[in-house]
Formats: sequence, C-alpha cells, structure tokens
Amino acid sequence: MNGRKKVNGITSFFLPYIKGKLTRKNIPIWSYFFTNQSCNYKCGYCFVKDNAVSMSFNTAVKSLNWLRSIGCRVVAIMGGEPLLLGERMVKIIAYSTQKNMYTYLPTNGKLLTEDLIDELALAGVGVVDLAVDTVRKNSFGLDKTLECIQEQFQMLREKSKKFGFKIKLNTVITTKNMSEVKELVEIGKKNNVSVSLHIIERPLIPYPNFVTQEDSLYFSEQEDYKKLDKLCDWIIDRKRQRYTIINPTDYFRIVKQRLKNNGTGSQDDWKCPAGKYTLGINEEGKLFYCLSLLSADLGHFNMENNGFEINDEAVKKQLADCTKKCLSCCNFNTYHFTSKPGSFIKDYCGIF
Ligand SMILES: C[S@@+](CC[C@H](N)C(=O)[O-])C[C@H]1O[C@@H](n2cnc3c(N)ncnc32)[C@H](O)[C@@H]1O
Ligand code: SF4
Ligand code: SF4
Repeated sequence: MNGRKKVNGITSFFLPYIKGKLTRKNIPIWSYFFTNQSCNYKCGYCFVKDNAVSMSFNTAVKSLNWLRSIGCRVVAIMGGEPLLLGERMVKIIAYSTQKNMYTYLPTNGKLLTEDLIDELALAGVGVVDLAVDTVRKNSFGLDKTLECIQEQFQMLREKSKKFGFKIKLNTVITTKNMSEVKELVEIGKKNNVSVSLHIIERPLIPYPNFVTQEDSLYFSEQEDYKKLDKLCDWIIDRKRQRYTIINPTDYFRIVKQRLKNNGTGSQDDWKCPAGKYTLGINEEGKLFYCLSLLSADLGHFNMENNGFEINDEAVKKQLADCTKKCLSCCNFNTYHFTSKPGSFIKDYCGIF
C-alpha cells in the first residue's frame, strides 16, 4: 500500500453530524463543490449549461477554508467534467486532503490517464465516481458508455488496490437504458464496486440556459412508467441480496409511489436536508442549496455572514414545495442516513 495521506470517509461524514447534534448547530455533512460547467461530452439529459467559467484555485482555497471552518469535511466535486481542470483539480484535491477533508470526484472517466490517476491518488482522492449510463455505444444521447472507458476502468481498479482510494459507478436511469442498468449493477457486483442510481430529472426551477437535448430520455409514457416500476422491484430485490447499491431501498419505494397515476402519484414526505446537512458552492464561490434550484434566490445565504441556517420563510416554503416532487438521490440519501444513522453504517461502511 502506498504511503499517501488518506482521509477517513466514515469519520468525515459522521463527525460533523455528531458535532451538529451535540451543539445543536447545522453543520453541513457534505458540500457540492461546483468547479466548472464545461464538458467533453454532451449527455442528452445533462442539467449543466456549457460555459467557460471555472473555479480559480484561490476561490477553491477560500471556499474550502470556509467549509472547514464551519465543520464540513466532505467535498463532492461537481461539474461539468472536473478533469478538464487538469492540474488545478489535482491541486484542489491535494488542498482538501491537507485540510483533512474527504474528496469525492465524479467523472465521465474519458480524460483519465495512468499518470493522472497516480497524481489524483497521491493528492489523496477519496472516491472516484465513474459515471456510466450504458454498457455499449448507442445513439440515444447517452454518451457515458462503459465500452468507451474500459481501459480507464481497468486502470482505476488496479490503482485503487495499490493506493487505497475507492471506485463507485454512477448511473442515470432514463427511458433508454433500463435493461443496461441491470447489466451495470451486475458488473459492479462482479468487480466489487458499489453503484449509485439516479432517476433522470429536470431542474425544478428551470434556469435560463437549460436546454434539454434529448426529450425522449425523460419518463412520460405509461409503458415506460411500468418498465421503471419493474426495474425498481428488481433493484429492491438486489438490495435484499446485499448488492452494494448505495441508494436506500426507500428511495426506490418513493420512486414507485411517484410512478402511480401516470407519474403524478403522491410520495411520502421526506425532509430535504439541502441548506441544513448539504450545501453547494459554485465556481465564483457563491452558495446554493441544490443543483435543481440553481436559480433560486438565496438572499442572505453567503459565506460572509458565516451562517448556515435557513431562516428565510420563502426559502422554507420553497423547500417544502419542491420536496413533494423531487427525487434527488443525493439529498434523499442524506435525509435517509441522517434520520437513520444505523443504516449508514450498514450501507456505506464498505464504500467510504
Ligand atoms: C453533472 S455530472 C458532473 C460530473 C461528471 N461529468 C459526470 O457525468 O458524472 C454529475 C452527475 O449529475 C447527474 N445528472 C446530470 N444531469 C442529470 C439529470 N437531468 N437527472 C438526473 N441526474 C443528472 C448524473 O448522475 C451525473 O453523473
Ligand atoms: S459527462 Fe457529466 S457534465 Fe458532461 S454532459 Fe455528461 S452528465 Fe453532463
Ligand atoms: S427537494 Fe431538495 S434536492 Fe430537491 S429540489 Fe428541493 S432543495 Fe433541491
């Protein structure tokens, strides 16, 4: 095993949670760290608008210092494609590690080379979250295929054994890849790699430059709702068989509720932890609640007031409204694990 500095994932998630409970303060358990919005791919569902703005290293340092000062220890990088930042991304990860913050790097994997994987590993990356939506090449606007990054997947597996970072697969479920989702879950199991699954969603407050490139990927037909319902049953069954699918079973139960009445079924209440246990920082160092609400007006929510409380009644109402329609996997998982911490240990200990 290499002697790189390693940050422990489990304590990074748990310490802020426990400290928050003891001090009765909101301490974010993790943060979306939006470094850039450009990408080398064009997935037909992507909510990120392609532009050239990216986070400077100085802004990254200032933001990481602030996050650490309020007790947050998990940095989930977000893009665009983070690896387009090259050496700057390696430096951002190294700085986070130096601050004892656990890093989570989502990527489409295409730009990974052996040297870059070594650099990321030595910088202390915690998890490389490899996004793949299909096994084989296709013509549906699903660019992230395993076939395109076989070599990178293989390298990552070898290097993760050498350096001790984790790999996860991440798949968006759309109308066009439901059968391949099953294959990807089986591939994860065979390779001892955990998998997270997201249902395709549109931003709940559309923002000016949001363009849906491929409408047919979204669920709107009765036939597709039925297929998705069956897929949820299949996934719940695999979870029973202890496959490392990191979404809690309740996530798929809620999806099934939503699928009723042509996709308008009412779902059980869940309390979105955005702005409480999670928050986002964009390329300019500004705070936001969640990726589906990028255009929400945050008013008082900024680093300067050093606060991390949602006091604004309008925002509270917004959260209560959007939770009824939202299937955000990241915030749902956070809600689930903060309300049932024991299930975090059961589902996540092998992953972080
Ligand atoms: C925006 S990408 C950025 C990192 C990297 N390029 C990637 O594809 O993973 C992060 C993740 O957001 C999720 N995502 C993007 N658009 C989505 C949508 N319309 N619905 C659900 N999830 C989406 C996907 O899981 C994607 O992997
Ligand atoms: S690879 Fe990621 S950022 Fe790029 S288009 Fe696809 S989902 Fe969006
Ligand atoms: S419920 Fe939470 S994750 Fe979903 S849109 Fe609202 S703030 Fe975002």
